[in-house]
Amino acid sequence: MIRFRLNDRPVGLPAEAAETPLVYTLRSPPVADMTPKVGCGREQCGACRVLVDGVPAHACTLPTSAVEDRHVKTAAGLDTPVRRALIEANATQCGFCLPGIVVAAEALFRQRPHPEPEAIARALEPQLCRCGSHPRVVRALMALARGESSDSGAMVRSQTPTGDDAAHPQTEALPPALVATPSLVSWIRFPEDGRVLAFTGKVEIGQGLLTALAVIVAEELDVALERVSVVSAHTGHTPDEGVTAGSMSIETSGAALRQASAWARKLLLERTSERLGVPHRDLAVRNGEITGPGVNEPLDYWTLAREGLDVEIDHRVPEKPPHAYALIGQEGHRRSDVLGKATVAAFVHDATAELHARPVRPPSLHHRLQGLDTTVAIPGVLIVDGSFVAVADPDEYETVRLAERVAGAARWRRVGDVPGTPRIDVARRQAAEALPLRDGVPTKSEWSPPVTQHRSHYTRPYLMHGSLGPSAAMACWTGERLYIECASQGVAPLRHVLARVLGMDAASVDVRHVPGAGCYGHNGADDVALDAALVARAVPGRKVLMKWSREDEHRFEPLGPPMHVELGADLDADGRVVTWTHDVYGFTHVARPHPRAPGVDVLAARWLEEPLAPSPPRPALAPEVGIHRNAMPIYGFPDTRVTKHFIRDAPVRTSALRGLGAQGNVFAIESFMDELALAAGVPPDDFRRQHLGHDPRALAVLDAALELSGGLNGPCGIGIARYKNRQCCAAVVVEVSVDEDTAEVRVPRLWIAADAGRVIDPDGLRNQLEGGAVQAVSWCLLEAVGFDAEGVVADRDWDDYPILRFGAAPEVRTILLDHPQDEALGAGEATVGPTSGALANAVFAATGLRVRDLPMTPERLRRVAAEM
Ligand code: FES
Repeated sequence: MIRFRLNDRPVGLPAEAAETPLVYTLRSPPVADMTPKVGCGREQCGACRVLVDGVPAHACTLPTSAVEDRHVKTAAGLDTPVRRALIEANATQCGFCLPGIVVAAEALFRQRPHPEPEAIARALEPQLCRCGSHPRVVRALMALARGESSDSGAMVRSQTPTGDDAAHPQTEALPPALVATPSLVSWIRFPEDGRVLAFTGKVEIGQGLLTALAVIVAEELDVALERVSVVSAHTGHTPDEGVTAGSMSIETSGAALRQASAWARKLLLERTSERLGVPHRDLAVRNGEITGPGVNEPLDYWTLAREGLDVEIDHRVPEKPPHAYALIGQEGHRRSDVLGKATVAAFVHDATAELHARPVRPPSLHHRLQGLDTTVAIPGVLIVDGSFVAVADPDEYETVRLAERVAGAARWRRVGDVPGTPRIDVARRQAAEALPLRDGVPTKSEWSPPVTQHRSHYTRPYLMHGSLGPSAAMACWTGERLYIECASQGVAPLRHVLARVLGMDAASVDVRHVPGAGCYGHNGADDVALDAALVARAVPGRKVLMKWSREDEHRFEPLGPPMHVELGADLDADGRVVTWTHDVYGFTHVARPHPRAPGVDVLAARWLEEPLAPSPPRPALAPEVGIHRNAMPIYGFPDTRVTKHFIRDAPVRTSALRGLGAQGNVFAIESFMDELALAAGVPPDDFRRQHLGHDPRALAVLDAALELSGGLNGPCGIGIARYKNRQCCAAVVVEVSVDEDTAEVRVPRLWIAADAGRVIDPDGLRNQLEGGAVQAVSWCLLEAVGFDAEGVVADRDWDDYPILRFGAAPEVRTILLDHPQDEALGAGEATVGPTSGALANAVFAATGLRVRDLPMTPERLRRVAAEM
């Protein structure tokens, strides 16, 4: 037996577990502590870290025998001030990194109860966080070190007096989601246990959505926030709201739930009024209880709702005016999911299953199975369908080893042409389809290359989503029905696409969202659901938990596409822009699985014995989609010509990454604005003001960011954009330091100002804005997918594809300009573009080097310097 203590409880395991990496031992029965995560298996991400006799250790490589007779602590067993401080500060987004961070911070605070910021950063250096939660993790720990409550780092400035109800115009139109699903009980229910159930088709991907939706519902119904439980995307159980994307969830699902809550409240108060003969206007609600003169019996929503809520919402009823808000816009809302993510099984990766499964991938998308040496003993389940190969076994670590053995026994052959360079080179640009924008919409009208006095071009490389937890899904096949749990952002479309691949009726496929690691767009969450389903079909009646490896994730996620942006401008005698041209070239950003797509856009479908090809890339032609998102500048130029250039022959699988084209376009626009300001001899902030006179709200955001940062003094740069030119307006000021010897760029401080309309949950909004900014810093300084000579993704882990670590993360301050009279606007992607432009401008301010190609690595800076 191997004996050790886990979180102060004795554990005894058979000797065969000796060589099993500790993380698998801990996560498997009989221990089943799911808080250490398998993120990389290579000591690179820290998600697996545990304390062994008080010292942090990577449980992904540590053999179980190494903890014999020792004390092991995981985040689940660390109910300490450190864990509480992180949870109370909502110091996370998706939460996948949180248990490892708790462990690393706990070790530090045990050693040094009052650590300096540098010591905190050092202790967290082995931990990766892909969501960009670094600043708030550090803030929470610094506050703890000082013995203070956490400094939120945010300020909210109300832009309209909340008593001004005249500034609260209500639109007559119903939210589109209610038009699609008008039944009230599809959105709001009052179960007998005293909760309010709110149903949404949107999903929690670390953005704090479920908390914000609960705030909206609690506010409108006048119930305590703790009473509201939000039921998230589950086919057949929640409204079909398509995909959670584009920072739209608060605008769509939030608007629907707000109006549905107003309906429920009105209906139940009318019921009370009729029952007691008390005028409706005399009634009030306090935490779900009906009060007022003449209400002499205990009456509450739950009692009244027993008669049913069987109505169809067919017109709009008045909602609570902003001056009456008690919850919306208030600080201090605790995320409902954070505690669980640090202490229990909260992710799809943690699901209990009878079989664990792993795919065995070909070397690339362009390879097919040539043969599999079946003389190799395969003790578990082996599934081969065309070139889709997977293994399964009741034991998770045995499954990992099995996958390695089968990979060694498989032979693959290359099919099709070798695409060579995947870059947007001259040949691809010349072959691109030009689609000039008219009123923001790409058209097939005539295009000719612009000729302007000032010209520059900018590029960004392929980027990875790089979720910290490799994709995972649970599936169970009963012969007639398929049940899936996965982290897909679109359970309803996925259901149809899975049904199509598997030859089933969509109604027989049930897909439920269960949180995964943060995804930031279209990653492997849909693909892994098909992988799980294919294995589950081979073992009917058994629950199968399919997980990708770190290498699978890096090599087969759909990549964020590269961009090439050419900008031109003419200035008049006063140095003002009179002509602006924007030509953006790129591959598709839109390849999510869709029921009406011509092809099947889930990875393994192309490898099956009867393959289903992916959809041929098509240009997205709606306003602000894909390549041309935020290609229209925020500025009021007299003559603006924007053209999208769509390249069909994508050599690599690309799809949606946070912000789609907005990051590349705004990086280019904001860089060029500084270049033009220099040419005009005007400071960059004044040059922007000169061209924002038509947009007082953008001007207010610009000024707020400058006020917060103390202006553009020293090595600072600014960037501003309104996401999709209609959602959150964000300005970002970035400060850099550039090492004279190594040419390494660092971002010590960053300031954000944002106008996202009505602020629902300030903390959640700030978390999103800051996360986007920190992720953009990582993209801009470090990230570019590497390819081999055949154009195949060469990066296999975090050493090959490094991302920002704690030691390099900026300190961030944020100010929110609240417009309570307006609708709430999506903000999760609002800062990626402005941060990118601000960073390039700060590098110029610091060095005089104009870096137009991302990432801004030391090599790039040296190259730019050499070309000057
Ligand atoms: Fe850190 Fe998501 S919150 S990886």
